Amino acid sequence: MDPDQLHPLQVNPQTQEPFLRLRKHENIILTPMRWQDAPHMVPIFNDVRVCNWMASPPFPFTLEDAEDWLAKRKPPVDNFLQHLKDAQGSESLVTAKGAPICSIREVNEDGTDLFIGVISFVRLFYGELMNTKSVDFERAEQNVAENSRLDVGDPRIIWSIGDFLAPSHHRQGIMTDAVDTLLHEWAIPRMGVRRIIVGAFTGNDGSVKVFEKNGFKHLRTIAEFKVIKGKMRGLHVLEWTSAESLEDHSLP
Ligand SMILES: CC(C)(COP(=O)(O)OP(=O)(O)OC[C@H]1O[C@@H](n2cnc3c(N)ncnc32)[C@H](O)[C@@H]1OP(=O)(O)O)[C@@H](O)C(=O)NCCC(=O)NCCS
Repeated sequence: MDPDQLHPLQVNPQTQEPFLRLRKHENIILTPMRWQDAPHMVPIFNDVRVCNWMASPPFPFTLEDAEDWLAKRKPPVDNFLQHLKDAQGSESLVTAKGAPICSIREVNEDGTDLFIGVISFVRLFYGELMNTKSVDFERAEQNVAENSRLDVGDPRIIWSIGDFLAPSHHRQGIMTDAVDTLLHEWAIPRMGVRRIIVGAFTGNDGSVKVFEKNGFKHLRTIAEFKVIKGKMRGLHVLEWTSAESLEDHSLP
């Protein structure tokens, strides 16, 4: 029998939406993005406990910003899902281009759910961080271009993780569980992820801990990384490599 290209995702029988349940928090699932998430993102990105640690969303963050945010990110994520659906009927599992499930939702007893955050795997966009031995601002653009040219499933791709969670749900182990679940149940087996480099602004102890608890190792701290939203920020850089990744897979 042909394999289910969505494996190991489950499908909601009412909505036909695929989802992945977190390993430890059984009432939390990851699903595709929904346009209706926009108004729920506004209070999250306007909360200092979130916006202070994020590089890109503007502050203050309006409904229009949320709609723009989704308009930029939802179509590629939907495309990851379509690619898998189009491959149904193939004899073996295809490599996914990305994770089609990235919105974090808390499921209520009556079956309704609440948008509480996002976790996504993206190709590393800070090219200056790609060489683990030094920070090379001059090669940054070239590194990003080379990394984005690598074919889906290439073990040399350097991935990164972007995430945020509603403050109402902080410190309950949810993001640690989300990284663990998405990494081991989707990114490694279905996307072929073998190497990940993440950055967290200095002071973001929660984010650093989430990654460390998932086996990421501290590579360096850059005291003055970049001026972001008018403020000079430092950056902790952490790396994760799978047991299967080999030294000679690294980019120069
Ligand atoms: C960073 C973030 C995703 C963490 O999510 P979370 O679900 O609250 O994290 P967890 O509950 O899994 O916490 C993991 C560990 O970090 C600790 N921790 C969490 N937040 C912390 C904080 N603000 N300060 C210090 N430690 C913190 C937890 O106590 C836990 O440690 P323990 O297991 O030893 O008790 C969340 O705080 C957030 O959304 N922050 C704003 C956005 C952001 O920083 N995104 C990441 C950008 S790099």
